[in-house]
Order: sequence, then C-alpha cells, then structure tokens
Amino acid sequence: MMPSASVEIAFRDVRVLAGTRLLLSIAQLQLTQRRISVIGPNGGGKSTLLQLVNGLVEPTEGYVSVDGQDTVDHGRAVRQQAGFVFSNPAAQLVMPTPLEDVELSLRRTLRETSQRRSAAMRSLDELGIAELAERSSQELSSGQQQLVALATVLALKPSVLLLDEPTTLLDLVNAQRFTQQVEKLAQLHGIMTITATHDLDLAAQAERTLLIHDGEVVADGDPEAVITTYRRRSAV
Ligand SMILES: Nc1ncnc2c1ncn2[C@@H]1O[C@H](COP(=O)(O)OP(=O)(O)OP(=O)(O)O)[C@@H](O)[C@H]1O
Ligand SMILES: [Mg+2]
Repeated sequence: MMPSASVEIAFRDVRVLAGTRLLLSIAQLQLTQRRISVIGPNGGGKSTLLQLVNGLVEPTEGYVSVDGQDTVDHGRAVRQQAGFVFSNPAAQLVMPTPLEDVELSLRRTLRETSQRRSAAMRSLDELGIAELAERSSQELSSGQQQLVALATVLALKPSVLLLDEPTTLLDLVNAQRFTQQVEKLAQLHGIMTITATHDLDLAAQAERTLLIHDGEVVADGDPEAVITTYRRRSAV
C-alpha cells in the first residue's frame, strides 16, 4: 500500500511582490497529497510557488507553513524538511566529487567525518550511483549529475521534495530513470513530492495538479482535468 504523506503545506493570504509587480497571489491552499504537479505557462509563478514552500522566497504578505512551521520564522527547520532539486544539476553540485557534495549537505546533521562519509555512501548507493562517488562531478553526464543532486537532498531525509523542472535537461532514458528513482524512494520513505514541469505526461502521474497562470492558481484538482484545461487555454 502507498503510504500517505504525513505533511501538510498551507498557504494563507499569500502575496509575493517584486516592487509593485505582483508575482503570485494565493489566498488559501492546503497541500497534503503525496504526489502533486504544478503546470502552466512560462513566468506564471511555478518556481515562485515551489520556492515559497521551503522559504527560498518569502511571502511579502501572508503565511506559508510546512507542518505548522512558518517558512520565515522557522526557515532552517523548514529547509531541512523540504528539499529542493533544481533543473540544472550542475548549479547544485559545488564540490569536486559526488561523495563530497553529499557529505557537504550532511555537515550540519552529522558532525563526525566517518559517520558523514558512510551516510553519504548510503545515499548514493540507494540511488544506484555508488560507483560515481569519487568521480569528478564536472565530468558526469547531466543524468548522472541530476541523480547526485537528488542524493544530496535525500541524504537529509526530507519529508517533502520540491522538484523544479527536474528532467528538463535530461534525455528520455535519463528523465525516466530519474522519475522512477524519485518515485521509488518517495514511496519507500513516504515523501511528498511537488513537481513543477512542462512535461504533461509527467504531470499526469500526480494525484493532484495545480495550473498556475499570471501568478494565480487557475485550476486545481484531478490531473487529467487540469491538463485539459491548460491545453484548452493554451490553444492558439
Ligand atoms: N527574483 C525575482 N525578482 C523579480 N521578479 C521575479 C523574480 N523571480 C521571478 N520573477 C518573476 O516572477 C514571475 C514568475 O516567475 P516564475 O519563475 O515563478 O515562473 P515559472 O512559472 O516558474 O516560469 P517557467 O516556466 O519559465 O520556469 C515572472 O514574471 C518572473 O519574471
Ligand atoms: Mg520555473
């Protein structure tokens, strides 16, 4: 049986402004489903929504909370609970090797070097990339780099994974491999995933889909229905 995510993400009276320009406005939103996808046109506000969930973006007005913890007041705790994977893995890998990058992400949670090393190896192993541990991160393929980026986030045992167009730079095989690994580990550990994507097949695999347009949630619910709405609105 699929374990349900035990996390609740709540938006209340949220507005994000850049100067006087309104980037996102969400009066009420509660997210509890285990698999959520976020779709919509470029510049609509998908990335902003994802970044609000782990406090990378702070609401100008209103509140966002993860399991009752405000993302501004408890930013560090929230970021440990909600991990972020960007579409460009190279930007997330800063150390010479995958092993060192995963160790780096564990620096606050595991103080002892040997513990950190073994936890980092376990995290790489769980994703089937233990053999990449000491390779040069720069020389890995995008698909391999994206799995390493995922390992750095999963090592912290998050309860929410925020995936911002995680497969955009990957070929079909690597995109599917990445998605399957996320799905497998999310199920195994009961992790909620929120995926912003332009890949509507990927979006359709969720339990709930949000359509974001011009900074507002314009459709929300069953993935097929929301995707149909998006297609209809986008028809030229
Ligand atoms: N740091 C920022 N400062 C000012 N405006 C920003 C900033 N980041 C994003 N924006 C603006 O916020 C709006 C929403 O952008 P966002 O990146 O969330 O859209 P998106 O739906 O993720 O688009 P895409 O599909 O292209 O990734 C856009 O108008 C964008 O120009
Ligand atoms: Mg985006």
